Amino acid sequence: MAEAPEKNLALDIVRITEAAALASARWLGRGDKEAGDNAAVHAMRVSFSTLHIDGTVILGEGEKDNAPMLANGEKVGKGVGLGLDVAVDPVEGTSLLAYGRPNAISVVGVSSRGSMFNPGPSFYMQKLVVSHEARNVIDLDAPIKVNLNSVAKALGKSVQDLVVFVLDKPRHQRLIEKIRAAGARIQLQTDGDVIGALMAVDPHSDVDIMMGTGGTPEGVLSACAIKGMGGQMLARLDPQSYVEKEAINEAGIDLRDVLTVNDMVRGDDCFFAATGISGGDFLRGVRYSARYAVTHSLVLRGKTGTLRYVESYHNMDRLSKFSAVQY
Ligand code: FBP
Repeated sequence: MAEAPEKNLALDIVRITEAAALASARWLGRGDKEAGDNAAVHAMRVSFSTLHIDGTVILGEGEKDNAPMLANGEKVGKGVGLGLDVAVDPVEGTSLLAYGRPNAISVVGVSSRGSMFNPGPSFYMQKLVVSHEARNVIDLDAPIKVNLNSVAKALGKSVQDLVVFVLDKPRHQRLIEKIRAAGARIQLQTDGDVIGALMAVDPHSDVDIMMGTGGTPEGVLSACAIKGMGGQMLARLDPQSYVEKEAINEAGIDLRDVLTVNDMVRGDDCFFAATGISGGDFLRGVRYSARYAVTHSLVLRGKTGTLRYVESYHNMDRLSKFSAVQY
């Protein structure tokens, strides 16, 4: 029997990432990481408070570097209606924003209550992300060369044609050497592996695969997006310090577990929104004209796989008269 359409939260949550992007874009290139992040966190918290949801933040961001944040366990929304798990990254790429580099975005993922993976005290996660065509051929434990060969075959390309997105971090030196030795090309970026994951699953982007270790919240947020866009991410917690490793062991989480997108977000009842702050490969940044601030966002629904690009024109004069957020 056909199902009646349910409430689509996509347009609710995109208002939240728009608000965070509008608030933080004022800090583009001004060299102050904390101010941009603070502005986005405040805007996000205020925008959530307008929604008829009963949300709990499962994955806030900021704990690993003591940045401003929406804290894990924090309640968001009016506390009525749908019970939701929430993952947020008000500014994904705080350095990108502070130093005026491309691809800083604001991101939110929500899923039905109890369905989002809670990584406890884990900050870092190893990730391998590919598009729909290559979703069944990757193996986190296989040598880099084997994965590259399998993905190339699934995409109908040669390994030399592939572009692998890797964060430019010292911990990735060996990984980069192995990718080069296999003959694949690399897109090295200082920050922003949610954009890396989005590009890896999008068949129209230059990137074919994302590999390497990045933030755990960013991993779960990427899983929300991959639910909507198709593709696969395999991941495993990858502590970067003794203290982190001990805390994960104490929490009873097995460091050997390989997680799929379905382990990170169970079921398809999930939504993802991202709004560009600084312009980049995937989303345009916030632009200002005499009357409007213009935002560019992507919203996804896990259940239907509907993907929307939303361009919004925000009338700043009118907004400034009643908005609780200073844009
Ligand atoms: P921030 O928004 O917290 O600055 O995160 C940017 C980022 O590059 C993420 O995309 C990535 O997952 C993580 O940092 C990697 O962490 P680190 O910079 O500590 O290696």
